[in-house]
Amino acid sequence: MSNILYDFGSGRSDPSTFPVAALQQAATKVLAEQATEMTQYPGNLGHPGLRKVMAEREANREGVQVDPDHLILTNGSMQGVTLSAEALQGDRGDPILVEEYSYPGTLGAYRSLGFDMVGIPLDEGGMSPDHVEAELARLHKQGRKPRFIYTISTYQNPTGFVMPLERRKRIIDLAKHYEVPIIEDNCYADVHYEGPLAPSFYAIDDSPDIIYLCSLSKILAPGLRLGYIYAKPPMLEKILARRHDAGSNYFAAAVTAEFYKDGIDEHAQFANPVLKEKRDRTLQGLSEHLGDLCLWSEPVGGLFIWVRLPDDVDRKHLWNLSQQAGVAFLPGVSFHYQKRNVPYLRLAFGHLTLEQISAGLPILADCVRRARTSNEARQFTSLFENA
Ligand SMILES: Cc1ncc(COP(=O)(O)O)c(C=O)c1O
Repeated sequence: MSNILYDFGSGRSDPSTFPVAALQQAATKVLAEQATEMTQYPGNLGHPGLRKVMAEREANREGVQVDPDHLILTNGSMQGVTLSAEALQGDRGDPILVEEYSYPGTLGAYRSLGFDMVGIPLDEGGMSPDHVEAELARLHKQGRKPRFIYTISTYQNPTGFVMPLERRKRIIDLAKHYEVPIIEDNCYADVHYEGPLAPSFYAIDDSPDIIYLCSLSKILAPGLRLGYIYAKPPMLEKILARRHDAGSNYFAAAVTAEFYKDGIDEHAQFANPVLKEKRDRTLQGLSEHLGDLCLWSEPVGGLFIWVRLPDDVDRKHLWNLSQQAGVAFLPGVSFHYQKRNVPYLRLAFGHLTLEQISAGLPILADCVRRARTSNEARQFTSLFENA
C-alpha cells in the first residue's frame, strides 16, 4: 500500500467539484432519450451533441466560428496526440520540434512512434521562437523537414506559462515558411484563473496545417476519457484515415453534452476558484518554506507549478526522502525530451486539499534541504537555465 499522503504528482482537478448529482440526472435523461444510439457505433467524429457544445466552447473562447463537423471526439486528448502524430508520420527517425520540457505522455508516444525529437528551450513565454527558427534553418540545410511542431502553448505542462500572441504569430510564420504543420495541445484550456487570454493558433491563422487538441479531463474529469481534435480539411481526412476504433465512448459523450447543454461556463466558474485557491496556497507554501533556495513559476491557469532546485540537491536522494516522508511530485527528468536529469520538479496542486498542501510543502522543503550536498546560497536568478 502506498504511504503517500501528499500527492503533488498527478495532474487532476479537484474531486470535490465533480458534479455527481447533475451527471446522474444527465445520465438518466440520455439513457431514456438516446437508447437506440447507444446500441450503435458512434462513428469517426462522435456524438454530434457534444461536438456542437465543444465547438461553441471553442468559438466563445476564441471569437471565431468553429464547425462541429471539423471536431473529432477522442479517447481523451491523448488519443488526439497519437492520432495527429500518426497522420503526419513519415519515416522513423524523422525530426519533430517539441518543447524542451513537455508532457511525459506525449513524449512517450512520440518516442514509440520513432520521431527524432528536437527540444526547443523554454522561458516565461513558452517555446523560444529564435530557437524554433534556428532549428528549422539547421534542419532545412540538412535536407530534413520536421514532420510537425508540437506545443502546449497555454498553461504549459510542466511550466504553467502562456505563450504571448506575438510569439504565436512568429511561430506560425516560421512554420508556414518551412511548410511544417503545428499541433497545439490546449489540454488545460478554460482552467483559467486571472489575466488576459492569448488566442489559440487556429484563431490567429486558419491554415489547415494547424491542428488543435483539447480535453474534458481538466475541466470535468479524466475518467470520462473525452477529448477532441479540431482540424480542417484536408488535414481532417488525413487524421480520420488513421482512426480504426469506430469512435469514442458515446455514453460518456452524451452525458457530458447534456451536462454542458448551456455551455461550460457555469461549471468552470464554480471549479476554477477552488483550484485558484490551491494554486495560491501552494505558492504561499513555497515562499514560506523554499523562498531562499528555489525559484518557481506562477501560473495564471492550469494545474502545475514548475520548481527549480539548487544544483547541489542530490535528486535521487530527494526522491527517496520524499517517498519515505509521504510526499510525491514528478521530477524534472520525466519532462525532459531526452530524459535529462534536470534540477526541477513539478508540483500538481489540483486534487490535494488545502490542508494537505499546507502540511505537505514544509515536509517537501525539509526533504530538499536534507538532500543538499552543500550549504551554498542559491546560485541562479532565473527559473530557466538558458534565460
Ligand atoms: C499537455 C497534455 N496533453 C494531453 C494530456 C492527456 O490528457 P487526456 O487524455 O486526459 O485528455 C495531458 C494530461 O495530463 C496533458 O498534460
